[in-house]
Amino acid sequence: MTVAPQIKKIADLPSPKGHFILGHLPQFNANNKHQVLERWVEECGDLFQINFVGKKFVVSADAELNDEIMRLRPTQFKRFYKITEILEEMGILGVFNAEGETWARHRRPASEALNLKKVRSFYPIIADKMQNLLNKWGETAKENKAIDVQKEFMKFTVDITTEIAFGYKLDTINNKADDFQEHLEHIFPMVNERITAPLPTWRFIKKKKDKKLDRALNAIETLIYRFIDEAKQRLKDQPELVENPSNFLEALLVEQEKESSFSDKEIYSNVFSMLLAGEDTTSNSISWSLYFLAQHPEMVEKVREEANLVYGSNAVPEKDQDLTQLKYANAIAQETMRLKPVTPNLYFQANEELTIQNFLIPKDTVMMLQNKVAQTREENFSNANEFIPERWMRGGCPMHENHSPEVIKAFGGGPRYCPGKNLAMHEMTIAISTLCKAFNFELAVKKEEVEEQFSFTMYPKNLLVKLTSV
Ligand code: HEM
Repeated sequence: MTVAPQIKKIADLPSPKGHFILGHLPQFNANNKHQVLERWVEECGDLFQINFVGKKFVVSADAELNDEIMRLRPTQFKRFYKITEILEEMGILGVFNAEGETWARHRRPASEALNLKKVRSFYPIIADKMQNLLNKWGETAKENKAIDVQKEFMKFTVDITTEIAFGYKLDTINNKADDFQEHLEHIFPMVNERITAPLPTWRFIKKKKDKKLDRALNAIETLIYRFIDEAKQRLKDQPELVENPSNFLEALLVEQEKESSFSDKEIYSNVFSMLLAGEDTTSNSISWSLYFLAQHPEMVEKVREEANLVYGSNAVPEKDQDLTQLKYANAIAQETMRLKPVTPNLYFQANEELTIQNFLIPKDTVMMLQNKVAQTREENFSNANEFIPERWMRGGCPMHENHSPEVIKAFGGGPRYCPGKNLAMHEMTIAISTLCKAFNFELAVKKEEVEEQFSFTMYPKNLLVKLTSV
């Protein structure tokens, strides 16, 4: 006789020690929330509950359960309502925060507009910004000054993303002031602040920064609407652009022509979603790569050798196809995202009651997925806490037996995995390769002084690096 497996309920799950009224809110109200959650995984296991003033949340570091939850979107699970709500309140309902049918309508054109073929056609923009950064860092190296890496890469990805998004040329790398950039600089931290705020105080009292946010959003909206009109006109005047759109906005307009027609508001929302989803994530990931490279001169040397072989005397690869040969630079990027995924956790909410792996998840339960945990477990990767890019090379080191790439969720999973992955990998690979070709790096602070900070994405605080030209 087979015994039916026992169904586990939330009430059966363990819980870390918390305050008798506030629950786990005080510990969670920090800039390193993800590390607090990781500590609790060590204390309570892969599945446990926490509460914020009585409201329950389930935390899962179980790779199989997490995989299933991501796969069951958009029907059985949606993004945590707070992310959706906060962006919607700012007038944005695009592919990142839409749900159900609306999401499906947005997703196809967004994925098409960022597919590998399109990303390849954007290569000249990426190469141009890379050259700008190399020139600037060349000057800094002469001055023997330390570089605030995270700020520098933010400028790099801002310049790339705005030009790829709608053809707008910024030059923040060289500190050229621009109204558009100033507005964005106010909007992004405010999105982060509101998503992680315990209470939506701005709905009751608008402080100076909230009013400034309203003004910034209005200004950006007006500008993007102008870009939409201009792009529509260009597509009419130059029909060849339909085959080869020169930026994301044009690609989106072409794709959306094929679908049911989209309103300008929806197009605006999607372009804005790209800016939001594509900037901090990519720049913080490149920053973490430099954190490791600055501690491993032998790897810098190896990346340089590969670069010299592939694009010789050029500072930047001439053509996009060269990037496919930069296998070691790519392995550095992959290993960085294994150890330092900038989205170490993802939050989802159940649309209906369901049972997965004998665990009963009631409707509306918020599941906090700790995806980073499995990426740094010995059972999945040998010498799991060591930075070993070779594990991503074909025929890599045979000493590293355990290798489970399927647990890597740095770009999410299931139908809503990141559509910007190709673009992000292009940006990371070119940055790692060309910078190692041109410079040697050295941490200008002690390794322990570089901290993981979480503000919507996880970034290296205090990462200062000194450069010397090769
Ligand atoms: C290293 C850089 C990046 C990382 C680590 C990253 C990571 C992620 C993650 C974890 C998600 C959530 C996936 C899920 O829910 O399963 C996501 C979604 C998304 N990302 Fe990225 N991303 C990066 C770069 C980009 C870029 C460059 C773009 C576009 C310019 C982009 C556009 C998006 C969009 C539109 C979504 C929402 C997809 C949906 O909900 O259907 N991302 N990304």
